[in-house]
Amino acid sequence: MADKTYIDDAERYDRIFKIAWLEPLADPELINLIKKIKKKKIIYEPGCGTGLLTEKIAGIEGIESIIAVDSHEIYLKKARKRLKKYSSVIQVISADALTYDLPQPADLVVARYVYHHIPDEQKMNFLKKLADNLRPEGRIFIVDIFIPPYSSEQERDESLKRLHNYKKELVRGNQFLMDIEEESLVLGLRREEEYKVSIEIFKRHIQEAGLNLDSLKLIEDPRISNPELNGLYIAILNKL
Ligand SMILES: C[S@@+](CC[C@H](N)C(=O)[O-])C[C@H]1O[C@@H](n2cnc3c(N)ncnc32)[C@H](O)[C@@H]1O
Repeated sequence: MADKTYIDDAERYDRIFKIAWLEPLADPELINLIKKIKKKKIIYEPGCGTGLLTEKIAGIEGIESIIAVDSHEIYLKKARKRLKKYSSVIQVISADALTYDLPQPADLVVARYVYHHIPDEQKMNFLKKLADNLRPEGRIFIVDIFIPPYSSEQERDESLKRLHNYKKELVRGNQFLMDIEEESLVLGLRREEEYKVSIEIFKRHIQEAGLNLDSLKLIEDPRISNPELNGLYIAILNKL
């Protein structure tokens, strides 16, 4: 098994998203939800990675500016190349989302698969910083994977195993996809680069960050979610 997931490999990262079919499953719903937001001139995308989602949202009517930020230069290089044709709309910036201040507040923040890469002790600050970068009536979209509830770190390991093993079973026969699930599980168990939590813990961070959970929706696709095990959610947050 490789020592790391896609963290140091932008090509592999793109392959996961494009071939793995599991990861972009929330996108149609997410795009629809973004389209429904009336005021969305300025979008902030922390943890934009290689710019896959950035490119998808760039063409949405009403969006005038996207500030796409990531702390990983390997991904940013790819994002800059991919997003070059949208240079009048998208700014790609190298920064840490935990400390980055936008020049002006965003109407909308979209963070896809970033929250579970933020170490536990920084998750609340991450959300708080997103709130600081949001205008008072703005919205924060968190698209991420959540594991079944737990009440101890040992139980959290079991929750991680249950969800990843479920997903692994679904892709049995496809070694590439099975390896991805295994790698994510191993990193999660090591509390290294992957820090998936339960919805209950997420809700606690939301509250501590002074935010409100406006809506929470499980993506009801058995390839990525399961009502018993959780999986992929779209959460919409707003300021209290
Ligand atoms: C799984 S990728 C998701 C990329 C992108 N949001 C997407 O959906 O395609 C997670 C990204 O978050 C970035 N990231 C993690 N912690 C960050 C931080 N503190 N500041 C900025 N980016 C961060 C990583 O470098 C990585 O590109």
